[in-house]
Amino acid sequence: MATRAIRGAITISENTKNAVTEGTIALLKDIIEKNHLDIDDIISIIFTVTKDVNAGFPAAAARLIGITNAGLLDFPQLETVDGLKMCIRTMMYVESDLPQKEMRHSFLRGASVLRKDLMTDEKYIAVALDGPAGSGKSTIAKMVAKELGFTYIDTGAMYRSVAFYCISKDIDYNNEVEVLKVLDNIKISIVSTKRKQVYLLNNTDVSHLIRSPEVSAGASAVATYKGVRDKLVAMQRDLAKRGNVIMDGRDIGTNVLPNAEIKIYMDGNVEERAKRRFEELDLRGVTTTYEDVLEDIKHRDQNDTNRKYNPLRRADDAVFLDTTELSIEEVKDFIVDKIKEYKKGEA
Ligand code: DC
Repeated sequence: MATRAIRGAITISENTKNAVTEGTIALLKDIIEKNHLDIDDIISIIFTVTKDVNAGFPAAAARLIGITNAGLLDFPQLETVDGLKMCIRTMMYVESDLPQKEMRHSFLRGASVLRKDLMTDEKYIAVALDGPAGSGKSTIAKMVAKELGFTYIDTGAMYRSVAFYCISKDIDYNNEVEVLKVLDNIKISIVSTKRKQVYLLNNTDVSHLIRSPEVSAGASAVATYKGVRDKLVAMQRDLAKRGNVIMDGRDIGTNVLPNAEIKIYMDGNVEERAKRRFEELDLRGVTTTYEDVLEDIKHRDQNDTNRKYNPLRRADDAVFLDTTELSIEEVKDFIVDKIKEYKKGEA
């Protein structure tokens, strides 16, 4: 672990304590999320505020979101001619395994113009990884994300969360009308830290509860409803705007991120996929049989491929990978190399 520095700035619309608090928290959360930080990774934060901001202390706002161990300090900002008005700036020192050049700075609400040097080349990369159940997408995506410091977004977990909500409330997930009625009550969020990713359903951690065979079947069913897809796809697109991402699912390359810089479509023979999924479930302690998993996968393949809205399909510009004979390492290296190649071409 080494000490790294992350810059940030945000503007606020009025000089009130609430605005200072809200602006500071929005900025800190963005930095934390973009860099996959845990609160404990933060060593210290220096804040500066322009002269026209004196109704509150950014350091006090930081404490409100649990940053209590780090050293915090507020300073007045040096005045510059034509400088940005009502601006809060930060310099956050953190512990990180990543090199300094991988730190993601954050300039929000017009504060971007302040540091054109840092902003102009800030172009995020999106990797779309599609394929049927059990093709190894999530294992590979997690490994690639870890190696390159990308954010991994598991879109299947979102459909699973909707299915889990229905099951837990005794709502028949095969009944579209009933599912759509409760859609507004479902709030899904992902909290990423460097070590793990947690899926919250209405602020409760459901990460482990959404992996059962019953939830898998429910997810495949609710994923056929346009109303469900519209809501989740909007969320997925929004998440992709915030940094470098690798997103796995069924319709990422064709629908969610049609302009993704890199698109991969993974497939493998159904028996091999069922075997892998069975072993994965077994490791997690889920009681099931290989035959049941094979049936479930065949059923989901059928559902996911033949549904009306955004079915599972390889995008014309996606690289096809048959993973039946390839090792996890080989697939991971192939994708990592593709991303590095892309970055080199852009540099
Ligand atoms: O990837 P997974 O097995 O966790 O996905 C669960 C179900 O969610 C899958 O059978 C189909 C659906 N899904 C989808 O329709 N679109 C996505 N982008 C991701 C998943």
